[in-house]
Amino acid sequence: MNTEIPTAFSPGRLAGLELKNRVIKAATFEGMSRGGTPTEQLVGFHRRLAQGGVAMTTIAYCAVEADGRLSDDMMYLHEGIETELRQLVGAVQAAGARVSGQMAHCGNFSKNRRLQRLKRPLGPSRHFNMLGLPAGIPIAGAMTAGDIDYLVGAYGDAARLMKRIGFDAAEVHFGHGYALSQFISPRTNRRTDEYGGSLENRMRLPLRVLAAVRDAVGSDFPILGKISMCDGIKGGVSWDEGVAVAQAIDRGGVDALVTSAGTSSFNPMLMFHGPSIVRGMIEVEKNPIAKFGLRLVGPKLFRDYPYKELYLLDRAKRIRDSVQCSLVYIGGCGTLESMERVLAEGFDFVQLGRPLIQDPDFVRKAMQDPSYVNGCTHCNRCVALIDHPDGIRCPVNEEAAAHA
Ligand SMILES: Cc1cc2nc3c(=O)[nH]c(=O)nc-3n(C[C@H](O)[C@H](O)[C@H](O)COP(=O)(O)O)c2cc1C
Repeated sequence: MNTEIPTAFSPGRLAGLELKNRVIKAATFEGMSRGGTPTEQLVGFHRRLAQGGVAMTTIAYCAVEADGRLSDDMMYLHEGIETELRQLVGAVQAAGARVSGQMAHCGNFSKNRRLQRLKRPLGPSRHFNMLGLPAGIPIAGAMTAGDIDYLVGAYGDAARLMKRIGFDAAEVHFGHGYALSQFISPRTNRRTDEYGGSLENRMRLPLRVLAAVRDAVGSDFPILGKISMCDGIKGGVSWDEGVAVAQAIDRGGVDALVTSAGTSSFNPMLMFHGPSIVRGMIEVEKNPIAKFGLRLVGPKLFRDYPYKELYLLDRAKRIRDSVQCSLVYIGGCGTLESMERVLAEGFDFVQLGRPLIQDPDFVRKAMQDPSYVNGCTHCNRCVALIDHPDGIRCPVNEEAAAHA
């Protein structure tokens, strides 16, 4: 048995896929798919990350159907954008990295008024859709058994398309308060049929989705699962139950788990730590109702968690000790030293979000100079600017450029 601890730059393996090092770009919604079509800007963004040395980049939030989007300017996986997706995947691979796509569905959490199939957003149970309030869709309905079957089919079709296009891996989003997470969480799932109640029932849809994706891509194609180890809300998934969730997804046949936390809807700061995103969101919000709502409830909803390096590591170690699949650590990994520590703790890969938004060359620079420190200040203003019309940006870099 080889017990040598890998370094951040040693090659790794995810199911049948070879990765040149242990660093993966995390899914961070890019805002570069105007009207749902991937743009040249999105190609440039991910090509740049590939050139900067990551082993694999993740195209964020690829909805599995048109009505799985929070807004019309998000991509959904369908044949109409096959050409653009091929260009995107080809550009990343030509620049020397692998490419994964994050498969997601918003369920009851949407502000998209231009629904195609549905009349209103649907989740496990009838629910107040806070995000949709300013858009005039404050209530989300409950999915019927037919809606659930449709969703499972949509994941399967989307996965089949991704594989045909040439993606190297797929990441199923089980966390952060999106559709699958809404089924897992007792806070949002109040169903009394076989999809609600016990954890076994709440996991039924997510596991059906995982099986459909596996069936579509085959046994040698890597499937990652991003989970929330804890929802961070009263009545939601606790840290203890999060371990059982991870075990169920592991048994369901995922190749790797990405150990995140929190929900975008109720407790996003558990995911990020650092200064609350509320102030920034109030500043950039144009809709007066949303601005008022944010002022009113934002500070109560968005709890603060002080930032520290590797803020989710202790929690993630519990998952590491409880599952068989590979593990990808995420959350506050901003130095080479942190990456090496995560790998020494038995994780197989690290995913980086904000540090690579700030500096796409982070990996290349750390390879040349191990003492290189990433310039991300965890100010979280990039999160508040998530809907910026020109796409994802780092305000720290912009300020530095303005003063140069
Ligand atoms: C601007 C921004 C957008 C994000 N969008 C997504 C997303 O689309 N899907 C997702 O799973 N996580 C998303 N995240 C969360 C990150 O993947 C990651 O979990 C979080 O930033 C913590 O990792 P970090 O400390 O390396 O940034 C986003 C994060 C940021 C900063």
